[in-house]
Amino acid sequence: MKETTYAMIKPDAVAAGKIGRIISRFEDAGLCIERLELGVLTREQAEGNYQEHRGKPFYDDLIAFITSGPVVKMVLSGEGAVGKCRTLMGPTNPAEAAPGTIRGDFGLITDANVIHGSDSVESAAREVALFFGS
Ligand code: RTP
Ligand code: MG
Repeated sequence: MKETTYAMIKPDAVAAGKIGRIISRFEDAGLCIERLELGVLTREQAEGNYQEHRGKPFYDDLIAFITSGPVVKMVLSGEGAVGKCRTLMGPTNPAEAAPGTIRGDFGLITDANVIHGSDSVESAAREVALFFGS
């Protein structure tokens, strides 16, 4: 089924000059880029994106990291876009991510793991609205 998802290249990967190579992974997998924007998240946007993690031990570091520099915000569409995006990303910990995944190829540590992707159709709708409006 055709879906829409939200993906975001995190500040570590933007600073490392990996924007083009990461976007190519999504395009090569047949996902369509519907919206694309570079910018620094506000604290409100960062907290909205990660609201389910509020109160966890890593939360403050996560908000500090995701607002530490520019990110690339994207809306992607295509067949099974939510799951396809997550598969291309690889698992949260880059040390456990296989070569060929975005985190496996460009990441080293969980705290700075290159890419965010919505984890469900419901999260995707919320995150697209948060970053691009409805
Ligand atoms: P994301 O939301 O960024 O796409 O990552 P994810 O779904 O793979 O992982 P999630 O569980 O949603 O965690 C969000 C981000 O928080 C950091 N994290 N640190 N130290 C830890 O145990 C820990 N767990 C999660 C990671 O940076 C993760 O991407
Ligand atoms: Mg997540």
